[in-house]
Amino acid sequence: MKATYEDRMGGSVHLSEDERSVIILDQTELPNRTIYLDLDTAEKIYDAIKRLAVRGAPAIGICAAYGIYILARQLENEPYASFKEKLTEKGDYLISSRPTAVNLSWAVKRMLKIVEDNDDVKKIINLLHDESIAIHNEDIEMCYRVSEYGLSLLKPGDGILTHCNTGPLATSKYGTAIGPALLGKERGIDFHVYADETRPLLQGARLTSYELHKAGVDVTLICDNMASQVMKNGWVQACFVGCDRIAANGDVANKIGTSGVAILAKHYGIPVYSCGPTSTIDTNCPTGSDIKIELRDPEEIRTMWYKEPMAPEGVKCYNPSFDVTDHELLTGIITDQGIVYPPFDVNLKKLFENRKD
Ligand code: MRU
Repeated sequence: MKATYEDRMGGSVHLSEDERSVIILDQTELPNRTIYLDLDTAEKIYDAIKRLAVRGAPAIGICAAYGIYILARQLENEPYASFKEKLTEKGDYLISSRPTAVNLSWAVKRMLKIVEDNDDVKKIINLLHDESIAIHNEDIEMCYRVSEYGLSLLKPGDGILTHCNTGPLATSKYGTAIGPALLGKERGIDFHVYADETRPLLQGARLTSYELHKAGVDVTLICDNMASQVMKNGWVQACFVGCDRIAANGDVANKIGTSGVAILAKHYGIPVYSCGPTSTIDTNCPTGSDIKIELRDPEEIRTMWYKEPMAPEGVKCYNPSFDVTDHELLTGIITDQGIVYPPFDVNLKKLFENRKD
C-alpha cells in the first residue's frame, strides 16, 4: 500500500512499493484535489519537476534521488560502461529541469558518485537504493533540526511572516521556515503565521495555508502587497523564509518576492531568517549574482488561475521564479547544523568545518 501524505505528514515524495516508480503528491492540484502520480520514466520526472507537480528545493532533490534509483533499475542488464553513460545522461537531463534550487544537482551528483566509484552494476543498484533512502531520511532529520533551531528564536504568541511554501510538502517532514510553527504546535506552543500568497504561482495560498490550517496552526493568508501593512501593525516579530540556494557569502535565492519581504522587514526592524538544510548551501557559488535564476512561462502571469486572460494577449511579461536576498538583509541563516550569523562568508565556512555529523 502506498504511504500517503496524510499518513505520514512526511513529505510529498515516496518510492513506490515495487520500487519501480517515484510516487508524488501532485502539488499543482492542492488544495482542492489529492492526486498521486506514478513517475516511472525520466521524462515523467522531468515534467513533474518542471511544472511544479513536485517542488520545493529538498523535495525536488529527494524526487531526483529516487528517480536515479528507479532509472538505474531499468538499466540493470547493461554492461557497466553503457549503464554509467546512460544513467549519467539521464541525471544531466533531470538536473536541467530547473536551474536554481541546488538540491536537485546536489542529489543527482551524490547518486552518480556511487556509479563513478564502483563498477558492478548489481552492487551499484543496491547502493543507489540505500543512498536514495538516506537522502530522504537525512532530510527528515535536517528539517527537524532546522525547526528546533527556529523554535528557539521564538516566544509563544509571536507573529511570523513567511513567503512561498516550505512545509512537509516541499521537503520531507516539518519543513524548514514553517517547521518551527508546526513543531511548536506539536508541543502546545502557538504562533500566528502570516502567509504571503506568493504570486504568481500562489504556493503560499495553495500550499502553506493548507498545511498550517490542516495542522491547526493559526494562519492568516495575505496578498504579497499586504506584508508591509501587517508589519506596520506590529503583528510580525520575525520573518522566516526558505531558500533554494545559499551562496558562500550568505546571499540567498528563494521564491520571487523574498527579497522584498527582507527589505520591508529591515525598515520595520524585524529580524529575517532564511531557513534551510545544509544541502541547500552551495559553497562553490561565491555570491548571489552567480546563481542562475529560472525564468518561467509568461502565461503563469497572464492567464493561469483566471476564467479569462487577465492581461492582453501578446503583452510582455517578466516572470522570474526566484530573487536573491542580499546577505546584508538577513539576521541569520537557520540550518540543521546551527544558526549562522554574520559575517556569513566566514561563518558558513566554519559550519562545514565543524559539522556535527
Ligand atoms: O518554485 P518553488 O515553489 O519550487 O520555490 C520554492 C521555494 O522558493 C521554497 O522557499 C524553497 O524551495 C525552500 S522549500 C523548503
